[in-house]
Amino acid sequence: MELPAPLRQGVERILEKVPLPVLKQAAKTLSDRYRAELRDGRLHMAEDMAVKAYLATRLPATYAAVRASLDALSAARPDYAPKSLLDVGAGPGTVLWATTDLWPDLEQAVLLEASAAVRKVGETLAAEAMTAKIAWLAGDVTIDLADLKPADLVTCAYVLDEIPPASPPKLVDRLWQLTADTLLIVEPGTPAGWQRILAVRRQLIEAGAHVLAPCPHDAPCPVSPPDWCHFARRVARSRLHRLAKDADVPWEDEKFIYVAASREAAPSRPARVLAPPKSGSGKVLLKLCEPDGSAGETLFTKRDGDLFKAARRLDWGDTLGGTSG
Ligand SMILES: C[S@@+](CC[C@H](N)C(=O)[O-])C[C@H]1O[C@@H](n2cnc3c(N)ncnc32)[C@H](O)[C@@H]1O
Repeated sequence: MELPAPLRQGVERILEKVPLPVLKQAAKTLSDRYRAELRDGRLHMAEDMAVKAYLATRLPATYAAVRASLDALSAARPDYAPKSLLDVGAGPGTVLWATTDLWPDLEQAVLLEASAAVRKVGETLAAEAMTAKIAWLAGDVTIDLADLKPADLVTCAYVLDEIPPASPPKLVDRLWQLTADTLLIVEPGTPAGWQRILAVRRQLIEAGAHVLAPCPHDAPCPVSPPDWCHFARRVARSRLHRLAKDADVPWEDEKFIYVAASREAAPSRPARVLAPPKSGSGKVLLKLCEPDGSAGETLFTKRDGDLFKAARRLDWGDTLGGTSG
């Protein structure tokens, strides 16, 4: 998966004159802070150079994860097309770009972001390319959500791991109040990210939400540690990304986990593939999360006819109904 062309070109323009050693150092600092899930009262992207490092090394991956999560929720509710978006912890506008790529008729968006440096870059990138009416707000997701208006789609991507561990329940409660239709929360696909998403999922189900994706049910999650539910997207690394990270491989696999919950139930809830399929001649073994709330491996062979043909085409994150996630 790649960034939309206008976003990629905008990012290239911003990074054009940045000296490589400076970008490399900023990328290292940013990566160290993320890896440590450091919460020292400072925003990871308070400085201009940290924002540039994010654009070079993280934006393509978070974009791919968000876009894949939106694809999954759209597949679960094919008639859904939000006109309004509220995104909190918006960063450089990642969710906005993914949303307008999928639903070009989006009319308005409100983006809340604490870092002035990130907001400035996000505004510059979007101003040149977007037709939707966009408002960028300065604010803290843990305290500044009182005056916001509900939106059809409410989102929060890669943010819960940056706020105090006690803050998510209150934030999720407020985000759900602000959700006219569907709420999407995305986190890194680590065991800790999955635990945060599990807690959000439980809270939303208790509040009456219907889970659209990835789970085909509202029952307790059947996956248990040391296993954890997550998905992955392969992301092409730009030349600058490779140089900034001293990386040889021209791609990376971004692992992510998400929950999409709605006021409207999905019309159908097919089983979802929870791991890379294992295939051999005339057979494929799929780890599936099932609509009855169970999860486990199912073997499909030629004897299953059309079902085998469908199963053979599936990838990690897809549903047995044939749609991707
Ligand atoms: C990892 S970035 C994710 C950005 C974007 N959502 C994405 O998926 O690419 C986290 C963003 O949340 C912002 N953030 C962190 N804590 C925040 C808070 N308390 N209030 C508002 N924004 C916050 C950071 O400044 C950063 O831009």
